Amino acid sequence: MMSSHQFGNLKMCHLWTTLLIFVIGGVNCDLTISPLGPSLVNTTVGSNMTLVVTISGAPDPVVTWKMGSLPVVTWTLGSSVAPDISTIHRDVLKIESDGSLTFQNVSFVYSNTYTVEIVKSGLKTVSATFVLKVYDYIQNVSVNTEPADAKEGAEKFTLQYSTLQGEADQWRWYFNSVEIQNNSHYTVGQKSLVIHQPNRTDTGPYTLVLTNPFSTVTFHRKITVLYGPDEPMLVASPSQAFFVSGDSLSLSCQAEGVPQPSASWMFGGQTLPVSQGGSLNLTNVQTSQGGIYTCVLVNVNTGAQRKRNLTVNVYESPTASPLCSVNAVNGNVDLQFHCRWPGGTPEALLSFPSLTNATSGAGDFSLTMPASQDLNGKMVLCRANHPLHQTRCNITATGPAMFLPMVLTTVDREGKIVVTIHCNSQATPKAMVTWSKGTELLANGLQYQISVDTAQLSIHDFNASTAQLYTYTCNCSNPLGSNGKKTQLLGPTISDSSLFHNQDGTIVTMTWEVPPTSVITGFDIQMSGPDLLTVTKNGSRRKRATEGFRSIQQRSGSSRSTDISVLDPKSTYYFRVIPIAGRTQGEPSVVQRIGPGGLSRPQIIGLAVGIPCSLLFLLLLIGLVYLCVYCCRKKRQQNRYPVPRAVEKVVSSQPDVHTPNHLLTGGLKPLPDYNRITSQAAPAERSIPLPTFVAPPPVRTATIV
Ligand SMILES: *[C@@H]1O[C@H](CO)[C@@H](O)[C@H](O)[C@H]1NC(C)=O
Ligand SMILES: *[C@@H]1O[C@H](CO)[C@@H](O)[C@H](O)[C@H]1NC(C)=O
Ligand SMILES: *[C@@H]1O[C@H](CO)[C@@H](O)[C@H](O)[C@H]1NC(C)=O
Ligand SMILES: *[C@@H]1O[C@H](CO)[C@@H](O)[C@H](O)[C@H]1NC(C)=O
Ligand SMILES: *[C@@H]1O[C@H](CO)[C@@H](O)[C@H](O)[C@H]1NC(C)=O
Ligand SMILES: *[C@@H]1O[C@H](CO)[C@@H](O)[C@H](O)[C@H]1NC(C)=O
Ligand SMILES: *[C@@H]1O[C@H](CO)[C@@H](O)[C@H](O)[C@H]1NC(C)=O
Ligand SMILES: *[C@@H]1O[C@H](CO)[C@@H](O)[C@H](O)[C@H]1NC(C)=O
Ligand SMILES: *[C@@H]1O[C@H](CO)[C@@H](O)[C@H](O)[C@H]1NC(C)=O
Ligand SMILES: *[C@@H]1O[C@H](CO)[C@@H](O)[C@H](O)[C@H]1NC(C)=O
Ligand SMILES: *[C@@H]1O[C@H](CO)[C@@H](O)[C@H](O)[C@H]1NC(C)=O
Ligand SMILES: *[C@@H]1O[C@H](CO)[C@@H](O)[C@H](O)[C@H]1NC(C)=O
Repeated sequence: MMSSHQFGNLKMCHLWTTLLIFVIGGVNCDLTISPLGPSLVNTTVGSNMTLVVTISGAPDPVVTWKMGSLPVVTWTLGSSVAPDISTIHRDVLKIESDGSLTFQNVSFVYSNTYTVEIVKSGLKTVSATFVLKVYDYIQNVSVNTEPADAKEGAEKFTLQYSTLQGEADQWRWYFNSVEIQNNSHYTVGQKSLVIHQPNRTDTGPYTLVLTNPFSTVTFHRKITVLYGPDEPMLVASPSQAFFVSGDSLSLSCQAEGVPQPSASWMFGGQTLPVSQGGSLNLTNVQTSQGGIYTCVLVNVNTGAQRKRNLTVNVYESPTASPLCSVNAVNGNVDLQFHCRWPGGTPEALLSFPSLTNATSGAGDFSLTMPASQDLNGKMVLCRANHPLHQTRCNITATGPAMFLPMVLTTVDREGKIVVTIHCNSQATPKAMVTWSKGTELLANGLQYQISVDTAQLSIHDFNASTAQLYTYTCNCSNPLGSNGKKTQLLGPTISDSSLFHNQDGTIVTMTWEVPPTSVITGFDIQMSGPDLLTVTKNGSRRKRATEGFRSIQQRSGSSRSTDISVLDPKSTYYFRVIPIAGRTQGEPSVVQRIGPGGLSRPQIIGLAVGIPCSLLFLLLLIGLVYLCVYCCRKKRQQNRYPVPRAVEKVVSSQPDVHTPNHLLTGGLKPLPDYNRITSQAAPAERSIPLPTFVAPPPVRTATIV
């Protein structure tokens, strides 16, 4: 490169010597060496070039070129002997006649520091140094990344470039056309760019500019930082706090992310099929479909996953209506108010605001309160709130009310009497009944059986003949109070009876009443008078008079009336009812009469007054007659005759006349004392007392039409 015509210009010796002081540090003016051109030489692969030196001061010095510290060429200038060049470099290196070093078809391995030393015996050795850099044209740049994908949140992301050919001695990175500088986020290395804690803002075009003295290559690479799924948006549409069963809705789930996260829905541990875009359509939802829906978002590239819950409320109103009730608890002391409204989703909220605001229940709520008279008769409201329906029910607790015991008599299979007493007192909660007989508390047993609800006492094998000996007491009580009633059972008793007949007097209806506590299993209907007529086929009638009462009908214990036919309107009949309890018969009812020949009340009174009077008159008359006869006899023949038998008979037969009932009963039944009945059964009285000496049946008042 350096032309040789300048060679030998000795005039320049001094100038060059001065220059060489700096270059080689030598001060010997005799031997000089001067490099021509820059000491830093750039060249390209395959080119020819020469490191030029000018040697002067002494003839034929020995020139040695060192590559690094290794001598590669040695030659004595001007010598006919061929230069000593190490064999591996012979193709490339060649020494010029002036000592310059020429490279032919240079390769990279020759990038090095070259030192030339000139040695002449007796003279100081001088040297010069060159730096040779062999470049190639930069070609086929590629950028590799580590790891393969940039991920947000990773520690670092490295871009590494490589070239197939050519080395760069300058490399610049640009992001979005802005040169990247070393800082906390980036480290720009010789072959790489490191992005520390890459995030989504690092996504974009990166440019690498590689430069060497012979070429400049620009390389573009787009980097995407993967991220997400971010916090998703879960939306139920239509947007409402709850849905009613039967509604349709769709759930969507969306989140930012690169790549776009894939969404799926899970419910109850099962993955549900979703439509494109990750929305879940639910049509005709049922309450079973209410609950927590979980959206699962996945970044398919990074595997990052995010789950979020969405609560879907599907409500359904309870069916029917709430029910309020109240029970006695804690040994019939406390009141337990109860409110129930089952079903529904969610369960209805129940409370008794008038009792307490402190507690409430769902679906089924009980509240126990000590019984107080404040609560007696007070309406207690239960508020039943469901999101779809608000309603209420109420209950009023009351103490046992007044009541009348009911007595029922039945006959069991063995024909024994069972008397059942019912004490049904209206009360809320239902009253508990305790039973006692006299002062003895009755318990469930063989003879006394108390019903499950305690309201009924059954007395088995009841002895009707001793019925009136005992008093049964039932005590109905609930937490709000008690109410007791005594029941005095009576034997079979008729309290009242009456008789009606039809227009032509052929049919009569007899009715009767019994006291409510009377023990009765049946009635015996008795009649006295001509036989009943029986209508035969040819229309003839039979008629036969019979004396005394005889049974004509049996009626059950619940009967209170009976019809009797066919009567002869021209005859007189007498009727009575005998109450029966098992084998015990009660007092017959008042005798009822029907037929002609009745007496009116004034007649009866007249009779009642007249008979004793005429009797008295008769006695007086008889006495008078007797006195006359006696006086006459005594006068005529004193003590000749005994007392006449006829008179004696009259006197002794008088007591017999006082028992007319023999005639009435006909000896069939125990003898009722009509005088006693009529005077005792005052309200049922329809008959007058019979004159004790009169044989005919009892007379009847004219009240019956
Ligand atoms: C050789 O290359 C280097 C760096 O590339 C440069 O600084 C220098 O100036 C170049 N020399 C010449 C003579 O071109
Ligand atoms: C280098 O020198 C050799 C021999 O002198 C010659 O054949 C070749 O063409 C030269 N190459 C270049 C690029 O000049
Ligand atoms: C230059 O050198 C390379 C090896 O470094 C060789 O392959 C090539 O053939 C040489 N070229 C010439 C023209 O000699
Ligand atoms: C290098 O780049 C050149 C053009 O720029 C191309 O022709 C060649 O195929 C590339 N080589 C490789 C190995 O990619
Ligand atoms: C950046 O810093 C690293 C060390 O932290 C260093 O090796 C590198 O040369 C620096 N690059 C630039 C362009 O300053
Ligand atoms: C991303 O990183 C840059 C540089 O560290 C920072 O300034 C920025 O706030 C980050 N952005 C996010 C979304 O984290
Ligand atoms: C789900 O519902 C949306 C709107 O409600 C509708 O656009 C979409 O087609 C539905 N998808 C399916 C699979 O039914
Ligand atoms: C989501 O719901 C499931 C039950 O379905 C539960 O196990 C999980 O803890 C819930 N996750 C969140 C974040 O609430
Ligand atoms: C409960 O609250 C209602 C209204 O909020 C009020 O009227 C009622 O008196 C309260 N009941 C009690 C027992 O405090
Ligand atoms: C109380 O309940 C009865 C039915 O049990 C209902 O008829 C009445 O309207 C209710 N009263 C109030 C005030 O809710
Ligand atoms: C009923 O009581 C009476 C009087 O105590 C007694 O004579 C009679 O035998 C009793 N009858 C039955 C069936 O026990
Ligand atoms: C009825 O029972 C209640 C409680 O069980 C008691 O306080 C009351 O004295 C009883 N009444 C009678 C008449 O026995």
